[in-house]
Amino acid sequence: MLSKQRLWIYVPLVSFALICLLFYSEALTDLHIPTSLNSFDISSDAPLHSDAELTASLSGIGEKIIPPGSFDGLYDLCNTTQWQPGLWLHCHSFCGANRTSICGGLNNARNRVQTCLRLAIDAGAGLIIPSATTRDKLDHMIMTDDRVVCADEFWNIESLKRDLGEQCPQLVLRMCDDRSGIQTVVESDLRSYLNPSYSLGGFREHIESLFEGREMVLEDVSVENPVVVNFGDAYLGWNYRTANEFSTIRKALFKVLKFNQELLDLGAKISKSERLNNGAYIGVHLRGEVDWPASFGSADDQMRLYSEEILRIQNSVSYDISTVYVSCGDQPAIQRFRDILAPLNFTVVDKSILLSSSPDILAQVNALAFDQKAIIEYQTLVDARYWMGLTMSSMSALIAYARTINNTGDLFDEYVYPGSSKNGLNRYYKGNSVMKGDRWTKLMIVNGVDIMDTFP
Ligand SMILES: *[C@@H]1O[C@H](CO)[C@@H](O)[C@H](O)[C@H]1NC(C)=O
Ligand SMILES: *[C@@H]1O[C@H](CO)[C@@H](O)[C@H](O)[C@H]1NC(C)=O
Ligand SMILES: *[C@@H]1O[C@H](CO)[C@@H](O)[C@H](O)[C@H]1NC(C)=O
Ligand SMILES: *[C@@H]1O[C@H](CO)[C@@H](O)[C@H](O)[C@H]1NC(C)=O
Repeated sequence: MLSKQRLWIYVPLVSFALICLLFYSEALTDLHIPTSLNSFDISSDAPLHSDAELTASLSGIGEKIIPPGSFDGLYDLCNTTQWQPGLWLHCHSFCGANRTSICGGLNNARNRVQTCLRLAIDAGAGLIIPSATTRDKLDHMIMTDDRVVCADEFWNIESLKRDLGEQCPQLVLRMCDDRSGIQTVVESDLRSYLNPSYSLGGFREHIESLFEGREMVLEDVSVENPVVVNFGDAYLGWNYRTANEFSTIRKALFKVLKFNQELLDLGAKISKSERLNNGAYIGVHLRGEVDWPASFGSADDQMRLYSEEILRIQNSVSYDISTVYVSCGDQPAIQRFRDILAPLNFTVVDKSILLSSSPDILAQVNALAFDQKAIIEYQTLVDARYWMGLTMSSMSALIAYARTINNTGDLFDEYVYPGSSKNGLNRYYKGNSVMKGDRWTKLMIVNGVDIMDTFP
């Protein structure tokens, strides 16, 4: 039984190794480090996902034997991991008052949590879910790390516990920086997202080397003698492509880490608006805020390419699709977009317009912090029949990923990357600033940092 499972794993592994070799040799030709990365990291982007009752529908639950490949392979991975009871990973980005929180924006924070889950599994350790910092309500562009909150303010920690309990029961979790009863702390150097990402066995090796440096051995760790590894930063810290987990573990971990359900429910009230015609609308993620660098795709370029794409969509369908739902933190930019599309008979709506007939809900939404507002918009963009965004925004990347999670192939590999090349972290396209994607999900491509091997 086991050897049969193994065989299945080796077939794609060998073909992938060949592909990875190709990528690797390409990467070696240039070790250029993009200067634009810093602004990428501080971009005020937000969000991720939801995705309904994911794998609950997959076979196996309620039966004794869980077939190989269930839960996108997460069950098998955890089942074959060498776990070290008593070993804890406290994984954060050295933010907040106690320097044990993860920083935002929301997409970066989400990537940190998902990556921490993967690193904990690689190490065979339990995970202490960190606290998170949140933005100042009034000055959200500058004060990004004003307040420390528990992770459940952004994510659905209850469903995370429930789903992992089923799919990776060996992985034990503690919440919100809880180190109670653990005296021994092993420090790890500050990792930058520019440092190489980890892959299979690599993080376990890192922990082993930390132990060696302190003349400790992992085997001495036990539930009675627990040890916590203080680690940051996990941002872009696991390479799903080199790990050959692009359409397996990456999907599984994406699905288990959902947004806070109350925020998603609030967002669902927007999606249900009559003006969104039961899903027959075009979703647009427009980045026109003052913090958005023009080199990532200016607001004007976005509006030009998006309008062309919207006309193309209208001409390709036999029904009326004239409502455009736009998500953008900048009202003047929304108005400019509206002015472009109005003469073409498209109606541009945003969350404030759709909720204007429900003033109490609108007030609730307006009272939310910046990143939570992004969660509100997330589901409406994922649910849109057609959608467009831009590759340089991590929020767009996340929405594109969530919209195509059930595809057998990867949207980026199949539709966005062909004809492009990657040097270090930068990707170069033939024909900059065009829309790429499948029929329903399109991204405006711009040369620059491409994080998708280590995202979401
Ligand atoms: C892996 O899962 C199978 C089937 O559920 C089980 O029989 C086996 O004991 C598990 N192996 C480990 C190491 O947990
Ligand atoms: C910092 O740590 C102390 C001791 O564990 C705790 O009481 C306090 O609430 C923490 N502060 C923050 C902002 O998390
Ligand atoms: C917009 O709608 C009006 C009224 O139905 C119509 O006269 C006009 O031709 C339409 N414009 C375009 C660009 O389709
Ligand atoms: C993917 O499939 C799941 C399970 O069938 C479903 O609940 C979810 O809505 C799907 N996601 C998308 C974006 O289609």
